[in-house]
Amino acid sequence: MSPTTPWTTIESDFPASYPMTDRLRFLIRYALLAPSSHNTQPWQFRIAADRIDVFMDEGRWLKVADKDQRELHISIGCALENLLIAAKHFGLAHRTEYLTDPANPMHAATVRVSEDGRPSPGPSHDLFPMISVRHTNHGEYDGRAIPADVLDRLSGCNDKPSVTLLLTANEEIKWKVDELVVRADANEFANPAFREELGHWIGQGVFGTSWLMSKIGKLAVTYVNMGASIAKKDSAVLMSSPVLGLISSERNDRETQIKVGQVYQRLSLLAASSGLWCQPMSQLVQVEEIKQELSQLQANPALFPQHPFRLGFANPEKHHTPRRAVEDVLV
Ligand SMILES: Cc1cc2nc3c(=O)[nH]c(=O)nc-3n(C[C@H](O)[C@H](O)[C@H](O)COP(=O)(O)O)c2cc1C
Repeated sequence: MSPTTPWTTIESDFPASYPMTDRLRFLIRYALLAPSSHNTQPWQFRIAADRIDVFMDEGRWLKVADKDQRELHISIGCALENLLIAAKHFGLAHRTEYLTDPANPMHAATVRVSEDGRPSPGPSHDLFPMISVRHTNHGEYDGRAIPADVLDRLSGCNDKPSVTLLLTANEEIKWKVDELVVRADANEFANPAFREELGHWIGQGVFGTSWLMSKIGKLAVTYVNMGASIAKKDSAVLMSSPVLGLISSERNDRETQIKVGQVYQRLSLLAASSGLWCQPMSQLVQVEEIKQELSQLQANPALFPQHPFRLGFANPEKHHTPRRAVEDVLV
């Protein structure tokens, strides 16, 4: 990873006495550390004197895996949440407006900032220190139960009334989800277009592999159906997780999906502060029939399943995945 990666941003470098545009540019470094599907980092930002506009980058949309752009919006929500947490941490009050530019369907949100000293909305817990610690943990979790008070705290991080956060340690549900994961993996990896899209992103080095391994990985994923071995691995890691999570919603619109991303980001930062890690399991919502079956496992099956994930204690992964530089995401 290059020494200028946003992962190594030093908090004390915040240009507090510089013009607002410089300060906002600094905040974007933290937005970039958000998770995104296949690490596509499908976001762009425009800075003005009193605001940051956040856009989706359609060129980075996963057209096969994410047909309805659900993950595109969730990824944007994750970046937006980091931005808001960082703004608050550095003393900037903020107000978010969603999808306010009908002329530009790629516009996701506008964050208006001010220094008027009023507290920003949102829970008071400072999640900022966890932004550069959090990562997706793909390994087996150690199976240790998550204490009830920690689960309560995690459940309480959902500050969006339009979004439902379900965390369950129910073994029967885990077995049912496991079966769905195996079928979803088999379904997706049987599709050459899915493998080609995944291979393309692996070939870009988005998961932090060397140039050579990225190219080999690209070829392997594109031309060999590894569905069975991937399903086996996914099943093992899922069964090692003490808790499964699902973020759902009553409505399935774009603003709600951005908010789903915000809730997931809050949850994964709060989890990291307790030594817990998460991994999304998007195959469960990428295959329509599997998604329908997943919705039936909810207490209220009418809710739209948006973002399933697993949660547990584990050793941290050795490296962070790479990020683009701020210059590359400014418009
Ligand atoms: C909407 C969304 C969907 C994701 N789906 C998956 C998934 O199905 N499997 C997985 O292993 N990781 C998934 N991820 C995690 C990304 O792969 C990960 O965020 C990205 O590679 C960057 O790495 P980091 O989270 O460790 O910083 C997802 C992330 C987001 C935001």
